Amino acid sequence: MRGVRGSIANPAPDTMFYGGNTACVELRTESGVTIFFDAGTGLREAGESLPESGECHIVISHGHMDHMFGLWFFRPIHSPKWITHLYLPKWLENLPDFLYQCAFFPVPFKELKGDVRVHLIEAGKTFEISEPENNEPVVIEPFSMCHPGDCLGYRVRTDGALFVYSGDHEILDDDDARASAAAFLAGADIAVVDATYGRADYHPGWGHSRWEDWVEVAKVATVRNLVLSHHDPVRPDQELDKLDQKFAELDNGDGLRIYVAREGMRFIPKGPIPFTRNGSDWLLVFLEKLSQYRDENSILDRILAKAREITHADAGTIYLREGNELVFAYTHNDSLFSADSAHKHVYVNIRIPISEKSIAGYVASTGKPLNIPNIRNLPPGVPYSFNDSFDRSSGYFTHSMLVLPFFDKAGAISGVLQLINSLNPQTRRPCPFTMSMIYNVRLLAREAAGILERSAVERQGIYGILRMAAVHDPSETGPHAERVGAIVAELYQCWAERAGHTPDDIRYEKGHVRLASMLHDIGKVGISDIILKKPAKLTDEEFGIMRGHTELGASIMAADPGKIAEYACQISKHHHQKWNGSGYAGSTDEGKLSGEDIPLAARITAIADVLDALVSPRCYKKPWTIQEAMAQLNKEAGEHFDPSLVALLPEIMDIVASIYNRFPDAEGK
Ligand code: C2E
Ligand code: SIN
Ligand code: SIN
Ligand code: FE
Ligand code: FE
Repeated sequence: MRGVRGSIANPAPDTMFYGGNTACVELRTESGVTIFFDAGTGLREAGESLPESGECHIVISHGHMDHMFGLWFFRPIHSPKWITHLYLPKWLENLPDFLYQCAFFPVPFKELKGDVRVHLIEAGKTFEISEPENNEPVVIEPFSMCHPGDCLGYRVRTDGALFVYSGDHEILDDDDARASAAAFLAGADIAVVDATYGRADYHPGWGHSRWEDWVEVAKVATVRNLVLSHHDPVRPDQELDKLDQKFAELDNGDGLRIYVAREGMRFIPKGPIPFTRNGSDWLLVFLEKLSQYRDENSILDRILAKAREITHADAGTIYLREGNELVFAYTHNDSLFSADSAHKHVYVNIRIPISEKSIAGYVASTGKPLNIPNIRNLPPGVPYSFNDSFDRSSGYFTHSMLVLPFFDKAGAISGVLQLINSLNPQTRRPCPFTMSMIYNVRLLAREAAGILERSAVERQGIYGILRMAAVHDPSETGPHAERVGAIVAELYQCWAERAGHTPDDIRYEKGHVRLASMLHDIGKVGISDIILKKPAKLTDEEFGIMRGHTELGASIMAADPGKIAEYACQISKHHHQKWNGSGYAGSTDEGKLSGEDIPLAARITAIADVLDALVSPRCYKKPWTIQEAMAQLNKEAGEHFDPSLVALLPEIMDIVASIYNRFPDAEGK
């Protein structure tokens, strides 16, 4: 889709997402023949993306300006290296000369540098566009549509598929009109149609349809992909978003999919569904990679990195919503901390109420993005103000800010992305965020929110398991599991960096070990309360039973497929193995391992588990201080623990402190 508006181009802040350009659809056949349907303002940009030389086709539906204006600004018609075939409805034969005579454009058609060949077409007279190498030609059938001054719609057959373009068309309120619209759409793989209005803002007789009518007709006509386009120029993104959302949830039956046309939207032949919507390439590649991550922190890290790449932002923070608060979830800041030291800032426990008083709170409560060119010069009368305490305490200087909401599938705010100081790549000076940056980040936020939500579902599953375990054993609370997971993740990262793993691999594995290690003691659900909650030392017999929690946990997790379950199995089974071989992996002495035979993830978890067990209160013991716990770990290095891993602990000590700050035990536990 090159242009999706009707009537007039309207590039405004609230039309940027779906696009402000007027009618233009680009169709490419498998062998590379390029055909544009209509020459609205979207055609200009399309011309810029074409190679130096070549041949292309432009099929016009009718002469209204919103379908023609881009033609004179289409690069190929000004280049001697291009042949442009222009297919005009026959009543427009004199239009190009006429427009020149009226001083509409300074250069007459005949004097254009490019080779422009006009072909006159009319309703009912099928024409062909030839394909290279003896491929079947593209066959185009023009139909007369219902629009003031007439208009041609097209049924286009190529590569075994049927594309239908309505041009401008009003589906009148009678059965005949519906039947002929259905005949026109019949069997389309993709139909791009004029849905200027909805029932609520319909202007009868203006020559444009209501989207509801197209949806009805498309069902009858067994259309596969219905693309609603030619949007009213003033219909804002928010409204189109709502419409798009509606279709995402609607079960249309019969394989009909409905899309709200957006500039840049593409459909490619793919898989069992002949055509699927495709994002722009960079987004697609990014999302494909992102969807391999399971762990929230890794996902947030990637989203933030991409958003900063697009905007050249020096810093950024993601907040996630928890009830009426925004919780600081992830941050980057190139000026204040190197990527290496960044992770301790990830565990900061900062909460902001969702209210219009703060900037992030405002975005979360209104759902509106904020683009602030200069934070120290806020417009008068805005409810929010800039909290400069971070700048004052850190010496940072916030200048420009771009703040966008994340929405979940139900349309509720799930978080806020805050980007700070877009740096000019040459001067490194902060400047305001540009429209195209906002556009791309908005696209990113919108698509990435789904992956974030899915990871939350998975995490909720793990929390659910942990909550069940906590009913039984209050020491297995959320915060305990979070702390063990976080310490394991950070220790793993430290180890993997030294082992020379790539940053991509590290992020990926780190997320898996974090989630898996949270489940290390899940086998305790199978241990009797009498043993588990005994406020004293266990007898040998009792401890023998207790040791079974390792095996039991592994057998619980073994039923699950996937990488996380695989790690969780290993960790559960082996987290009480000792480096010197005197640990256990079950009630009996079978399966004892020592040294590097113990899986790495389990060796790491052993350290994190004991560290957290020592500093936490237990029914059978008092909490130790972190120093006492560290002394114990050091003492046991080479006996209980892998000494090379214990040696890494000092490097993550400040992160461990932040982790305790971020996940404190809940009150009264
Ligand atoms: P847990 O409470 O999560 O403790 C995990 C591990 O931390 C223990 O593994 C042990 O290696 C270490 N640890 C915990 N507290 C202490 C401590 O006071 N001193 C020292 N040196 N190390 C400590 P372990 O021993 O294999 O025990 C596994 C699980 O068995 C424990 O998980 C706990 O649920 C249970 N358990 C162990 N000892 C007792 C006990 O005396 N009474 C009760 N009621 N449960 C116990
Ligand atoms: C796309 O880029 O086509 C997907 C984004 C959207 O939902 O419009
Ligand atoms: C990218 O992140 O790969 C570039 C984004 C853009 O299109 O501006
Ligand atoms: Fe139009
Ligand atoms: Fe355990």
